[in-house]
Amino acid sequence: MTRQTVVVTGGAGFIGSALVRRLVTQGYQVVNLDKLTYAGNLSSVASVAAAANYHFEQVDICDRSRIRRVFSDYRPDLVMNLAAESHVDRSIDRADDFIQTNILGVFVLLEEALAYWRQLPDQKRRQFRFHQVSTDEVYGSLGEEGLFSEQTAYDPSSPYSASKASSDHLVRAWHRTYGLPVLITNCSNNYGPYQFPEKLIPHMVLCALQGKPLPVYGKGENVRDWLHVEDHVSALLQVAAHGRVGETYNIGGHNERSNLQVVNAICDLLDELLPDSAHRPHRELIEYVTDRPGHDLRYAIDAGKLEAELGWVPAETFESGLYKTVQWYLDNRPWWEAILNGSYQHQRAGLGRLAR
Ligand SMILES: NC(=O)c1ccc[n+]([C@@H]2O[C@H](COP(=O)([O-])OP(=O)(O)OC[C@H]3O[C@@H](n4cnc5c(N)ncnc54)[C@H](O)[C@@H]3O)[C@@H](O)[C@H]2O)c1
Repeated sequence: MTRQTVVVTGGAGFIGSALVRRLVTQGYQVVNLDKLTYAGNLSSVASVAAAANYHFEQVDICDRSRIRRVFSDYRPDLVMNLAAESHVDRSIDRADDFIQTNILGVFVLLEEALAYWRQLPDQKRRQFRFHQVSTDEVYGSLGEEGLFSEQTAYDPSSPYSASKASSDHLVRAWHRTYGLPVLITNCSNNYGPYQFPEKLIPHMVLCALQGKPLPVYGKGENVRDWLHVEDHVSALLQVAAHGRVGETYNIGGHNERSNLQVVNAICDLLDELLPDSAHRPHRELIEYVTDRPGHDLRYAIDAGKLEAELGWVPAETFESGLYKTVQWYLDNRPWWEAILNGSYQHQRAGLGRLAR
């Protein structure tokens, strides 16, 4: 990639930290711009934090003057926007921060990116890209058949996915109206190391390790298309380097699994990796709980455009990626214990507002 200085927003989060670790290791000048909400964790970038090409800015993407300063101080060639409120259940309880960050924050980033881009010298102006990292949840739910393509109409169900859909629309509008060179990627569910314990896979692994019930929503029939975070990072770098300006690329792992299949696979792996565990067989910890309101039945991605145009294919199968992930949580207790000892205590979110 010829673009040398990269601002990664949300670089202390799950996917952002994986991207930051990769970019710093590959020698880019990397500015990790993060507000450090409950989901931001600088220990996820500890392995690269001392590098001379790593820079950290604790900034809220809604803070216009500080965003402007970051643009003028670092003069980036590429902005990759991953900063977001990202947890569907939290968005159901209280959508305020989702609207603020995912919509208004993106508006601020676009305005400042546009002002910065317009005054760049020709060569740097041609190179600049604004890359919006988004989700397949903007497309709504699939039935038993079919796949989301880049042509699928947006039809979001949750406050989270509606806020991400809004930001994608803004990004597209800033390209069509003002010519800002943007790229958009919509990715399926990610999993891997350093994922905050509120998300399905780490939540289940950590509950099982503690012998706590494994809460499966509804009958566990909802299907997601799982992608290892390192495969997502590889796809993002391909799109940032070679994607066509103004285009959308779907990213997916060809790994459709129902939630129950995922939880069963985790239980079986823990049985194998922890033969002396008092909680074997871990499947006995599974407990069916009230379904998430508005729970989309199925997501599945057609990543054919990304494969055909840019040659990207995932390196991990679900089995290989899940094995590595469960092993990572077993090997990295201090990382997640620090989170569990803090404010997050495996509490159930996403029902409170409906109960009121
Ligand atoms: N996790 C997934 O499965 C998935 C799938 C597809 C797309 N995405 C998208 O990828 C991006 C990253 O997801 P993630 O799972 O790593 O999220 P995450 O919740 O782990 O991390 C989000 C990061 O953004 C930061 N942040 C939040 N609000 C901010 C603000 N106002 N200003 C600056 N920083 C702020 C947080 O501190 C945190 O470090 C999100 O945009 C999400 O919508 C996620």
